[in-house]
Amino acid sequence: MPRHIAIIMDGNGRWAKARNLPRALGHRQGVLALKPIVKTCARIGVSVLTVYAFSTENWIRPKSEVDALMSLLMEFLRAETAELKMEGVSIRTIGNISKLPARALAALQESMQRTADEKRMILNLALNYGGRDELVRAVNRWARQGGDQALTEEILANYLDTAGLPDPDLLIRSSGEERISNFMLWQIAYAEIYVTKTMWPDFDPEELIKAIRAFQSRTRRFGAVE
Ligand code: IPE
Ligand code: IPE
Ligand code: MG
Repeated sequence: MPRHIAIIMDGNGRWAKARNLPRALGHRQGVLALKPIVKTCARIGVSVLTVYAFSTENWIRPKSEVDALMSLLMEFLRAETAELKMEGVSIRTIGNISKLPARALAALQESMQRTADEKRMILNLALNYGGRDELVRAVNRWARQGGDQALTEEILANYLDTAGLPDPDLLIRSSGEERISNFMLWQIAYAEIYVTKTMWPDFDPEELIKAIRAFQSRTRRFGAVE
């Protein structure tokens, strides 16, 4: 079983477009798709699930779409935190959340506090997340704390938003795009990549199990000979 699964939840807009629906409805459907994936991961023994919900680049979308995404985030937290807590899921984030709208930030902080003691699984929401931004913030924090000896991989890893978490074993991207889009650039060094053409709103636990089975059939070498 992968200890850490990371998902680039892509394709909400195309899902909506194919149905002549507004993009915001695709995002709404995308949020609905997330819940059974989180539950399944928690139940099958995944330790960390990181989902890319909003990138540092997504701010350039129309304000109405950005607003819809932030509202959906708040709705998700309001509606699901209690159940996630019952499932033993602890909510955390990566990304520069200080730049999120104040209301979204407050909802996040409340959900994180309420679930902080849960131990079964971490649901890590990547919000205003960019891999490059994370690395720059990490190095700046290190420098500010008087970092003077040579920076090592171990030290830098401790300043990343993912400090203390295992690297993703499996990276899933929905909707068929074969790119990383600035997601976890440092942490996916040796992740197995699984791309499915399925649009995110249609991604269900069956698809998840398919991805995990594909992962389990891979030979990971980490640079060594087989
Ligand atoms: C992913 O779906 C969700 C976010 C980026 C927030 P998109 O909105 O990127 O959907 P497509 O790629 O346009 O279909
Ligand atoms: C990546 O999807 C970001 C999220 C899923 C939140 P995008 O739709 O923003 O990525 P590009 O623009 O296709 O690379
Ligand atoms: Mg997209």
